[in-house]
Amino acid sequence: MRHRWFWVAGIASAFGALALLPVAAAGAQGGGQPVCADCHEEAVRSIAPTKHGAKLDATTDLCRSCHGDVAAHLEDPTAAKPAHLFDRGMTAAEKSAVCLSCHEGNRQLAFWDSGKHKKNDVACADCHSIHGKRGDPSTQPYLTTQRKLQYDTCGQCHKTIRAQLNKTSHHPIIEGKVACADCHNPHGALSPAMVKNESVNQLCTNCHADKRGPVVWAHLPVEENCLSCHNSHGSNVPKLLTVKVPQLCQDCHGSGHGQLAYGSSFGIGGANQDRATRFDARSCVNCHQMIHGSNAPASRGQFLLR
Ligand code: HEC
Ligand code: HEC
Ligand code: HEC
Ligand code: HEC
Ligand code: HEC
Ligand code: HEC
Ligand code: HEC
Ligand code: HEC
Ligand code: HEC
Ligand code: HEC
Repeated sequence: MRHRWFWVAGIASAFGALALLPVAAAGAQGGGQPVCADCHEEAVRSIAPTKHGAKLDATTDLCRSCHGDVAAHLEDPTAAKPAHLFDRGMTAAEKSAVCLSCHEGNRQLAFWDSGKHKKNDVACADCHSIHGKRGDPSTQPYLTTQRKLQYDTCGQCHKTIRAQLNKTSHHPIIEGKVACADCHNPHGALSPAMVKNESVNQLCTNCHADKRGPVVWAHLPVEENCLSCHNSHGSNVPKLLTVKVPQLCQDCHGSGHGQLAYGSSFGIGGANQDRATRFDARSCVNCHQMIHGSNAPASRGQFLLR
């Protein structure tokens, strides 16, 4: 613990532990020069336990590193404000530039410039809460430390996606097991929809390794794109399917075989064709259980049967 911010003396009373820290900056001891904490106790308190509080030492004027020139404000706080207020007076690009002055080299930010957020005037502080949410002392200062609530931050703008999370079948995002950033890089990526991997299938099989293949008898659309049959966020059809079986299958295979399979091989004759087409929700996959591909011998494997 070697923090020596010039405002430490000011918050010493509020934080017993910090009172023990050495105070190097002369201004704080002199008594003449006012410090940020004299008047902005909450802003100081909220930032102290964060990485910004911990990593920026005495050589950095913590508050000034983001809020810019504060000289006039310290001179007369009511007459002049610091240069950077992160309010409507700054464009999104100007706001982000402040953060990027330190964070530009971060690997996760490599594609910030080509990402959809930058291009649509979303700024760093629209997602990252530096001082905690206003009026709610229970919120952590950083979005990054509250993985479980990440969807809530994203959902404030992405309302259609937010709504999908409540559908009967959904990735366990609200449940806190999967986060938006497990699949997307919110800072930008070259892939469509800023997904983390080059292809959707690579992304999905990161977690669903049993669907990765290769298999002896592959089902072509599975190799091509999981999203031929599944939604990524939520669906009212079980198993995140885009459409119910058998319609899902019939979109590609036509409606002929089901009848044929029942009619010829399984004893339901022409008179009952009507019945044969009234499949229950899983119909086709009752028999074609190895829908993602099979390693069984040809007679069963090639037809994706169990
Ligand atoms: C003597 C008291 C005092 C000191 C010291 C002081 N401020 Fe302020 N600050 C104020 C007042 C008063 C306002 C105006 C509040 C308002 O208009 O609602 C203000 C406004 C601000 C705002 C804009 C807030 C807003 O909602 O627009 C920021 C940012 C800020 N101060 C940062 C700092 C920083 C950083 C320091 C230290 C370098 C500092 N202040 C030192 C009293 C002070
Ligand atoms: C890492 C950048 C960063 C640092 C460091 C920082 N701030 Fe801020 N500050 C912001 C941003 C961004 C906002 C706009 C509101 C928000 O997004 O939380 C803000 C808002 C404020 C506000 C007005 C809103 C409020 O919460 O009342 C005050 C006052 C303030 N900061 C004071 C300070 C003081 C004092 C320090 C030094 C202890 C400081 N800030 C350090 C980025 C920073
Ligand atoms: C003066 C340099 C500086 C500025 C300006 C700055 N940061 Fe940081 N930031 C840091 C340092 C240092 C760390 C700690 C890095 C580490 O631990 O690897 C950090 C960490 C972070 C983290 C990770 C926090 C965590 O808990 O893992 C986030 C998010 C972040 N900064 C966002 C921002 C945003 C948003 C802004 C602009 C409002 C900003 N920073 C401005 C220096 C800065
Ligand atoms: C659309 C929301 C969003 C925006 C905009 C955003 N971030 Fe982030 N940021 C996140 C999320 C979510 C994470 C956590 C990522 C994870 O868990 O993989 C994160 C993580 C980080 C981290 C920690 C990375 C690490 O290496 O651990 C830093 C630093 C950071 N962001 C800085 C920034 C800066 C600087 C900007 C603006 C140029 C910015 N972020 C814009 C959502 C955002
Ligand atoms: C399991 C992985 C996964 C998770 C978790 C996930 N997404 Fe997605 N998301 C995707 C994939 C894959 C696409 C591409 C869809 C496409 O190409 O049609 C996508 C597309 C999107 C799109 C653009 C297309 C559209 O439908 O509007 C947005 C916006 C989006 N996701 C936001 C989010 C948000 C916000 C969260 C968290 C609440 C989230 N995603 C969680 C995988 C995921
Ligand atoms: C301040 C509003 C805002 C927040 C917060 C926000 N986004 Fe976005 N996001 C946008 C806008 C605006 C776009 C571009 C328009 C669009 O595609 O909807 C966008 C685009 C995207 C896209 C690309 C969509 C495509 O079609 O290529 C993804 C993916 C995405 N956001 C994910 C996220 C995730 C994940 C989070 C939370 C970590 C998040 N967003 C937080 C506003 C926001
Ligand atoms: C970060 C890990 C992760 C990624 C990436 C991921 N999933 Fe999942 N997926 C999960 C978890 C966790 C569950 C819930 C498993 C459980 O409850 O047993 C799940 C469940 C599912 C389910 C079953 C849903 C239900 O209602 O039973 C399907 C289908 C699915 N994922 C498809 C996909 C597809 C398609 C992709 C790529 C777009 C994908 N997943 C990417 C983690 C992931
Ligand atoms: C041709 C359509 C289709 C494609 C393409 C497809 N799936 Fe599926 N998937 C299904 C069907 C149908 C079910 C439901 C099976 C059942 O109810 O027995 C399912 C179920 C699942 C399940 C939940 C049950 C289980 O087996 O674990 C996961 C996870 C899953 N798929 C992941 C994926 C992944 C990952 C991909 C891409 C590699 C993918 N699917 C591609 C049709 C498809
Ligand atoms: C996106 C289109 C698409 C969807 C959806 C789809 N399939 Fe397929 N399926 C194919 C293609 C392409 C082949 C490769 C053989 C061919 O050209 O007919 C195939 C092959 C098969 C085979 C092996 C046929 C053979 O002669 O080797 C079976 C069995 C099968 N699909 C069943 C299903 C079932 C059951 C569903 C629904 C759960 C389904 N398919 C959904 C496109 C699709
Ligand atoms: C009662 C079990 C059963 C059901 C239900 C079933 N199939 Fe089949 N299917 C088979 C068998 C067995 C074969 C192997 C060839 C044969 O005997 O006709 C087959 C072959 C296939 C083939 C490849 C040969 C061809 O006729 O094109 C496709 C594609 C196929 N089924 C799709 C479907 C679809 C789509 C559904 C749902 C609408 C479905 N099956 C329902 C048992 C079934």
